[in-house]
Amino acid sequence: MQFTRQDFPQGFLFGTATSAYQIEGHAFGGAGQTHWDTFAATPGNVVRAENGAVACDHYNRMDADLDLIAAAGLDCYRFSTSWARVLPEGRGPVNQAGLDFYDRLADGLLERGLKPCATLYHWELPSPLADLGGWTNPDIANWFADFTETIMSRIGDRMYSTAPINEPWCVGWLSHFMGLHAPGLRNIRATARAMHHVLLAHGRAIETMRGLGMTNLGGVFNMEWANPVDDTPEARAAADLYDGYYNRFFLSGVFHKTYPDNVMEGFAPHMPKGWENDFDIIGTPLDWCGVNYYTRKNIAPNSGPWPSLDEVDGPLPKTQVGWEIYPEGLYNFLTRTAREYTGDLPLHVTENGMANADVLVDGRVDDAARIAYLDSHLAQVRKAIADGAPVKSYFIWSLLDNYEWSLGYDKRFGLVHVDFDTLARTPKTSYHALQNALT
Ligand code: FCB
Repeated sequence: MQFTRQDFPQGFLFGTATSAYQIEGHAFGGAGQTHWDTFAATPGNVVRAENGAVACDHYNRMDADLDLIAAAGLDCYRFSTSWARVLPEGRGPVNQAGLDFYDRLADGLLERGLKPCATLYHWELPSPLADLGGWTNPDIANWFADFTETIMSRIGDRMYSTAPINEPWCVGWLSHFMGLHAPGLRNIRATARAMHHVLLAHGRAIETMRGLGMTNLGGVFNMEWANPVDDTPEARAAADLYDGYYNRFFLSGVFHKTYPDNVMEGFAPHMPKGWENDFDIIGTPLDWCGVNYYTRKNIAPNSGPWPSLDEVDGPLPKTQVGWEIYPEGLYNFLTRTAREYTGDLPLHVTENGMANADVLVDGRVDDAARIAYLDSHLAQVRKAIADGAPVKSYFIWSLLDNYEWSLGYDKRFGLVHVDFDTLARTPKTSYHALQNALT
């Protein structure tokens, strides 16, 4: 790596991130069925119809995995809690084994000197709630507040930081408009409602955690830089709309208590009744803002129905999942978010990393491409800090190769290689390079 801790401000934190469904193994420990189980069981949605039943078996290998985080010299660990593991029906009876698991995780992190950074929801909606309309049902904000109360009454006292929902855009647009994630809808009305309700649920969860006396609460937003394919006004307007429904909708809702006009041009007829009155909950003050960043998209206008745009292939080198490598986008987002939305509020890079076609040869995984990716993005973080953005931490996605949603187990994002037949863990070259940079 081309950096050490000394290249960052005193107190800057390094972490790694994972999520419950992607690593735990939902067949274990009494977890309920989720909409990802049923989405994956429907032909055509997920590569080889793979699901998270076993995943990395982290449920049974947690201690060894936490040892790997500590030995890397990292300061914090961003994990998520599965709603369906804690409340198998989504509401009502609690699975004590699920609460016990997250309790052991919290203690296990503290024992190793690691800061627990929780995300309440990283996409495994309990099936009984999906049956009731899931994110399109306004009641979800209250169901989610109840789940928040249940899990955080147990572990909230030990959390360093907490965010309610991972990546509202994925919960809303990717899952209800593009149909690429569970529940796999392609419906503009469902999308408008899901995108509003996910923010309402975020706000209700923040209120609930404040009520429990928790501190250091934030939101985690994924961002993709929208690059117009050319300099025509039409291409610029198309990129601006992509930026609107991908990035600005959520930041604007939470930090400005309003939605962008260009997004409302498509959404207005489909919004839930009384949505304008929800912004005091949605915009309840936060202590920090998290940015998940991977890539940019090249946007061209088309003559079809709203949003009348296409994502087109770009010229930059790509990762194993075909995402262009564009480190400058991270700088752009960190500085723009501070300038236009969050001011002095601490910013955290809550996810950044790459998928690479890593292979295990003679006990080694040489992932030089990942080292270069992390170096180039961390250089942009340093540049953003130098230019005044209050960035306080950086989390690598991910600790382990894991279940990459609709792409199944082929796409490897880990610092640690996982053999999905034996479940053996092998730290990659990037893991060792990170260890050298941090310790
Ligand atoms: C993010 C998700 C995470 C993982 C990475 C590659 O959008 O939060 O679960 O899929 O992308």
